[in-house]
Amino acid sequence: MTLSAAPPDRTDPHAADPHAADPRGTAGAILIRTATTADLVTTAELHAAHLPTGLFPALGHRFLVRWHATFLDSRHAVAVVAVHRSDDGRERCVGFLLGALDRTRFQRELLSLHRFALAARGLVALVVRPRLLRHFARTRLRPYASRLVHRGAPAPETTGRRVGDLTAVAVSEVCRGSGIGSRLTGEFLGRCALAGTTWVELATPLDPPSAPAFYTATGWMPMRDTTTRDGVAVQHFGRSAAGRLEQR
Ligand SMILES: CC(C)(COP(=O)(O)OP(=O)(O)OC[C@H]1O[C@@H](n2cnc3c(N)ncnc32)[C@H](O)[C@@H]1OP(=O)(O)O)[C@@H](O)C(=O)NCCC(=O)NCCS
Repeated sequence: MTLSAAPPDRTDPHAADPHAADPRGTAGAILIRTATTADLVTTAELHAAHLPTGLFPALGHRFLVRWHATFLDSRHAVAVVAVHRSDDGRERCVGFLLGALDRTRFQRELLSLHRFALAARGLVALVVRPRLLRHFARTRLRPYASRLVHRGAPAPETTGRRVGDLTAVAVSEVCRGSGIGSRLTGEFLGRCALAGTTWVELATPLDPPSAPAFYTATGWMPMRDTTTRDGVAVQHFGRSAAGRLEQR
């Protein structure tokens, strides 16, 4: 089973995307700033609409809002948004990025500070989604339960060095191709450099090929391909964040 939320109706880009804003001729009006709790409903909606793969989007909007909030609260994580400011001063969030400055510390913090809140929200979501519950029981119950009980961090994938993780980035459909994705990832890399994190990684589904194409075009190095617990083929990318301070 491949987990994926229902795709939005694409016939009318503005109807399909409630966060649509037409950036034509307003390049200077896109601001990148730290996300606040007021942005979480929108970042969760953008996530569900544009990154529907995986367990967390399948758990629904309320779960995504709670999970995104954990990035706001942590000194080991970053949540930034791209905001379109129209001539009359109204602001609309048209993109977001979530990432960890240190993925091992952030995962530990999730387990120590947020595990009960996330587990409770997840359980409620699973109870009303019996098919997802069965899939969860097959693919994740044992490892998740073990982590909950032992508070253990997932097996380290690196040799003890501090590694950042670009967890999610999405831009509203009508705003794509105008540099917002690059600005969001550039902001994240700058914050990694500021925090002393010199190496950053991410994993993105191979299909559709647009995300791997974006990362390749913006200087990320392909590392390896793996398959998720849901059977989705993903490509891992990495890059240095060193030197990003000067470019901010
Ligand atoms: C991936 C995504 C964030 C890119 O955002 P964006 O604002 O359109 O990207 P940018 O305008 O900054 O593009 C930066 C570069 O990537 C290239 N690029 C972007 N999308 C591309 C695509 N689909 N195919 C090929 N190249 C692409 C651009 O051509 C540009 O290169 P250039 O500077 O040489 O012109 C956006 O398409 C999106 O939200 N996709 C859905 C969610 C997703 O897949 N997220 C990534 C996985 S976490």
